[in-house]
Amino acid sequence: MSNAAIQPAPAVALPAGVSATAAKPIVLTGAQPSGKLHLGNYLGAVVNWDKMQGANECFYFIADQHAITVPKVPAELRKNIYSCLAQYLACGLDPQRSHIFAQSHVVGHTELAWVLGCSCPLGWLERMTQFKDKSRKQESVGAGLLYYPILMAADILLYNAHFVPVGEDQKQHLEITRDIAEKFNRDYSPTFNVPEPFIGETGARIMSLQNPETKMSKSDPNQNGVVFLIDPPDVVRKKIQSAVTDSGGEVRAAADKPGITNLLSIFSAVTGQSVADLENEFAGKGYGDFKRAVADAVIARLEPVRLRYEEFSKDTAYLDSVLKSGAEAAQRVAYKTLSKVYRKVGFVERPR
Ligand code: TYM
Repeated sequence: MSNAAIQPAPAVALPAGVSATAAKPIVLTGAQPSGKLHLGNYLGAVVNWDKMQGANECFYFIADQHAITVPKVPAELRKNIYSCLAQYLACGLDPQRSHIFAQSHVVGHTELAWVLGCSCPLGWLERMTQFKDKSRKQESVGAGLLYYPILMAADILLYNAHFVPVGEDQKQHLEITRDIAEKFNRDYSPTFNVPEPFIGETGARIMSLQNPETKMSKSDPNQNGVVFLIDPPDVVRKKIQSAVTDSGGEVRAAADKPGITNLLSIFSAVTGQSVADLENEFAGKGYGDFKRAVADAVIARLEPVRLRYEEFSKDTAYLDSVLKSGAEAAQRVAYKTLSKVYRKVGFVERPR
């Protein structure tokens, strides 16, 4: 999808089940509070979340229920939820223009997941790449890891989202969400909008600086390959200067130059310059000059985010107030969808 869709025309066809008075397209997405957000999360996802505010009705949440699908230390998770929120705000997510909330604060995500899971074929879940990858890395695999994509479908369908801005790694989760929505609409009657992923043209797949064949990931055991949004400038510079490059000295994107290709994508995503322009600019220059310029550009982009983060993270009362108003707005929508779904599957109305 092109960047034009960042502000989709208000004339997006409203699906059955979405109020005709809903003036703006609905956008929903989130990240797991599994530690600090990194450059991949930022360039592949959060930058677009920011741009979509205003023209769309945006629901941005912290996926804390997803986070416990792999073991977590409770005190760290609690800290990371606040930290994730402060990072969202530092990146420009604005509680005046978006509903920002914690997944566990809204009744409906897990309830809808249960209903959706009851008609989702097991084979669809067992095929998921992320389940296969993550379960391979663990000694004992919780059922939640298998159920993960259904909870994700519930997150999206609970708000009848039209667009879901994500990085490329979430594509398969969006496909299964669409399959689950279509199946429910067929099995019962049209209920859910079938959402579209929004994947940006640049930054959708940022790779590890130390192993450019694997994606940049919060859980990478080699943290030198991961630039975190709130890394201080000297740390960012060191990580970029020591990024793995390729033999040959030419600054050019190519299949046999994954390290340089990754740095070019990062450079292009943070500056808005095309990869071709950057290749021209660095023609005849060495990797040293190039890496220095990449580091300068990344630092210029991240430093204001880090400074804003420092401010937001000190103000827990403000963070709590954002979570409260976000959860209230989200809950109103969630209850409506949930009661509709409960009616469709044949539950009787809860006595008042
Ligand atoms: P998470 O927390 O892994 O990542 C948050 C967002 O960052 C994107 N991303 C990347 N983009 C480019 N390059 C990378 N190396 C990179 N790594 C991560 C992800 O695609 C994502 O958009 N399952 C989701 C959270 C979730 C969710 C949802 C998202 C739960 N429910 C409903 C959308 C809708 C996740 O773990 O994202």
